[in-house]
Amino acid sequence: MIDGGPPALRGDEIEIPAVTEWTMEMLDAADLHPAPLPGVEMTFTLSGVPSPEVSRALYAAVGARVCWTDRFPWTYADWRAWVDRPELSTWIAMAEGTIAGYFEIEAQPGGNTEIHLVGLTHAFVGRGYGGYLVEQCTRRAWQRGELWACGTGRATRVWLRTSTLDHPNAIANYRRRGFKVAAEATAPKPVPDPRAAPWPLPHDPRVASRRHEEEELIT
Ligand SMILES: CC(C)(COP(=O)(O)OP(=O)(O)OC[C@H]1O[C@@H](n2cnc3c(N)ncnc32)[C@H](O)[C@@H]1OP(=O)(O)O)[C@@H](O)C(=O)NCCC(=O)NCCS
Repeated sequence: MIDGGPPALRGDEIEIPAVTEWTMEMLDAADLHPAPLPGVEMTFTLSGVPSPEVSRALYAAVGARVCWTDRFPWTYADWRAWVDRPELSTWIAMAEGTIAGYFEIEAQPGGNTEIHLVGLTHAFVGRGYGGYLVEQCTRRAWQRGELWACGTGRATRVWLRTSTLDHPNAIANYRRRGFKVAAEATAPKPVPDPRAAPWPLPHDPRVASRRHEEEELIT
């Protein structure tokens, strides 16, 4: 056994030899370039009830095809701790009566607002929704402190990370909206198989749910 070598890959992981990651930022709300309106109305709703299940499902639905796997190891408790914070907001985009996409934004100290995740569900990609989704996401990121994360102060910088694993339209879309590259780094990245997204539940439903239901009826 040799110490100091690269970490061993897990069974379902493949190492992508060179993943380039860009940090992109916008320093003034006036730099936001509006996108053309989609042909069909797209609406955006702030998720009012932090929900590990919903956030996990959106993460898999939007991200599986672009290898969003970093959160796969998260437990139910990890997800709950992540979403159940006043400084984090999740917005659900609807179009044509269907969940068309979502975004997750966080008010961070010093006026920084991070766009953690933004994307369309697969059926909506390449149909003229992507620019508008990122525009509306960025608008809301600038509205932190008033529209959401109230009392955290105004935003002075909106930033995000994107990589060569994301959809090939992603970086062009951010540039079109007015984001600039602030940093770039390339490194190998082990990526688990995104087709399977195991997520152990907090309780085994075969043994716990009936008892749980009975407890709820009693109280
Ligand atoms: C990223 C994503 C939102 C883009 O949406 P899309 O439907 O693929 O892209 P669109 O066709 O709407 O194009 C968006 C904008 O980028 C521009 N664009 C796209 N590809 C381009 C290219 N190759 N060169 C220049 N501009 C390009 C379009 O002109 C458009 O700009 P406009 O709104 O000013 O007209 C979408 O692909 C997606 O959600 N993918 C899955 C999740 C993901 O990768 N998210 C990004 C994580 S960082």
